[in-house]
Amino acid sequence: MPLDRTPVPDELRGLRLALLVSGGIAAYKLVDLASALAQAGCQVRVAMTQSAARFVGPPSFQGVTGNAVLTGLWLSAGSPEPHVELGDWAQLIFLAPATANIIGRVASGRSDDIVTATLLAARCPVVIAPAMNDAMWSKPAVQENVATLRHRGVTVVEPETGHLASGHVGTGRLADASKLLKAMADAVRSRYDLAGRRVIVTAGGTREPIDTVRFISNYSSGKMGFALASAAADRGARVTLVTTANHPEHHGVELRHVATADEMLAELRAEIRAADLLMMAAAVADFRPAKTATSKIRRESTPKLTLELESIPDLVATLGREKDAEGVFRVGFAAEDSDLAAEGLEKMNRKGLQAIVANDISRKDTGFGSDDNAGVVMFTDGSSHELEKMTKREMADRILDLVVPRLKKT
Ligand code: CTP
Repeated sequence: MPLDRTPVPDELRGLRLALLVSGGIAAYKLVDLASALAQAGCQVRVAMTQSAARFVGPPSFQGVTGNAVLTGLWLSAGSPEPHVELGDWAQLIFLAPATANIIGRVASGRSDDIVTATLLAARCPVVIAPAMNDAMWSKPAVQENVATLRHRGVTVVEPETGHLASGHVGTGRLADASKLLKAMADAVRSRYDLAGRRVIVTAGGTREPIDTVRFISNYSSGKMGFALASAAADRGARVTLVTTANHPEHHGVELRHVATADEMLAELRAEIRAADLLMMAAAVADFRPAKTATSKIRRESTPKLTLELESIPDLVATLGREKDAEGVFRVGFAAEDSDLAAEGLEKMNRKGLQAIVANDISRKDTGFGSDDNAGVVMFTDGSSHELEKMTKREMADRILDLVVPRLKKT
């Protein structure tokens, strides 16, 4: 089917795709494919071998994708390690037309050009579409290399039978565009169970100002929220992280820095309408100074300071009563020092949540500031799941394993 009439599957929209091009005659077909994907909202970045660049000029790919094309390991001014940067960035890698040469080099773990090095640095699913002369395709050396790649988890889209550039009719033609797109979508679906979803995560303790230099806060480090945001992004979600804390940024996570509970609520209100899931890991202060001094309170002139505190409305319960949050799956987090399950259950019901993660802050080896956590995840259907001590990132993945199947079907 011609590319301009081949529908791009929804899973690929918004996806970060690295398109790796090697030196075969069918390379020209990839320009159309890159264009169709970019028009469908996919973020496409292209890297090509020197031979591929002799078949199709990099400006063609740059023109249709809007992104600079990598043609070597040393050429990128922006990044000292372009292959690592591209491998890290990509949520899916598609290599085509995969020649006998590139298949052999990938199978043997070579990394001496931008295409092989990116594949070695990749962390995401890889789909390859071989295309070559039929005699080359049928050779045991090529078939064994293809089997090796398959065994390592690479999806191989079989070439088709038909007219080849050599004039022969045989098996070796690059597969039809609809098959290429379907293989990419299948790879995305099996790996990214949050593809196409919007997730909001909150992280860190809010800071409620006393004056221009002092605030009231708590021990929350924000690590659990960052772990949840990264885990959701790695599963394909578009994530907004509303945070008071600073930790390394993660692809696919958009940061919104806030300080106070009021600022956090404003960001949440701006985002909640489009969201599928809200994970409220922030430790929102329960009280704030009733008045904030507009300049620094001086010790000399203030021998005794009494602060009057007012209570802060419950953000997640407030949002839950608003129309925009209808249908958003809301997960709360409860830091408890006794009666985990009972306290957690009571909070889930009181705050109108669909799930709550209760964790034990009386333990010294988990909780605030630690890289580890442990707790229990409870849902409104009465099910409850103990999570033994594990890293916060592992816990984030386990929480999502439980939550994702419960999200409303799109
Ligand atoms: N939360 C909120 N707004 C607040 C306080 C808490 O949205 N003002 C959210 C937290 O982000 C968390 C959940 O409610 O997801 C439970 O927080 P927790 O502090 O345990 O609940 P509280 O109602 O403040 O109960 P406690 O008196 O035990 O602190």
